[in-house]
Amino acid sequence: MEAVLAPDVKVEPIKPKVGAVVQVDKATFLDKAFIPRCLELIERHTALVFPRLGLTDEEQLAFTDSLGERVNFTDSVPGGDESTKDVYTITLDSVVNTDPEYVFGSMFWHMDGIISDIPPPKFTLLSCHQPPDKGGQTEFASTYAAWDALPDEEKAELEGLRVVHNLVAGLHGVLEPDEINPAKRGMNHEHPLVWTHESGRKSLLIGHHADYIVGMPKPQGRALLARLLEWAGQPEFSCRHTWQTGDFAMWDNTGALHRALPYSEDSGRRMHRTTVAGYEAIA
Ligand code: OGA
Ligand code: MN
Repeated sequence: MEAVLAPDVKVEPIKPKVGAVVQVDKATFLDKAFIPRCLELIERHTALVFPRLGLTDEEQLAFTDSLGERVNFTDSVPGGDESTKDVYTITLDSVVNTDPEYVFGSMFWHMDGIISDIPPPKFTLLSCHQPPDKGGQTEFASTYAAWDALPDEEKAELEGLRVVHNLVAGLHGVLEPDEINPAKRGMNHEHPLVWTHESGRKSLLIGHHADYIVGMPKPQGRALLARLLEWAGQPEFSCRHTWQTGDFAMWDNTGALHRALPYSEDSGRRMHRTTVAGYEAIA
């Protein structure tokens, strides 16, 4: 299926419920007139991929700023502000990244910035500066679509539940709890499991960082969270992008999970990330 929005913008959905590839030239993309169209597209497809856009850091920041207020929630980990202020360099290259735990954590389904005391970031934006020689694709899963498709009786059971997200869970599989920097080890945040957005849409707030459900025995709560994560990650609700140099992607971090497929320290993979602050408290 192919939709023609305007002669200079071509949109090809990746899956009916998540993802679209948008073919557009850089001048059209950077034109302010493109912003409302881009917001419509992301509302419909949740994750957008723009092949071979080739944005510079300055262009990516200008685009980021035109979507809202920028936020830099990983400025304290290696790669934060590496080449340009407010641009986070995602790499496992040990010369740039001496402390790769955050990047390893991004190989598990997650939402960005969910354990900080800020509203969850609205959009995450990624430019591929060097693709990996192997692995390192990025996957997106729509938690709007995953919620919508649940049976009504299950929806009724989930609404009202609250979940504690924390760093120890987020780094499970990467670091043992006692290996985490003590100053950060206790980072956690409680959120509702189901987010009713101002738009009226609902999404699931889940991910590797979701540790337990408040008021439910831990094994049962964790089994439920694991099952919801499997549900959201199934092919109907998720898609994958294989990177080429210059590709740009952006997604609605409030209605999507994402993860990088595993890649090695010497894969060459280098991505530049910017983030738009969330403006809606979770309700
Ligand atoms: C991140 C992240 C995904 C990727 O940096 O938060 O999830 O594909 N990156 O590198
Ligand atoms: Mn991330």
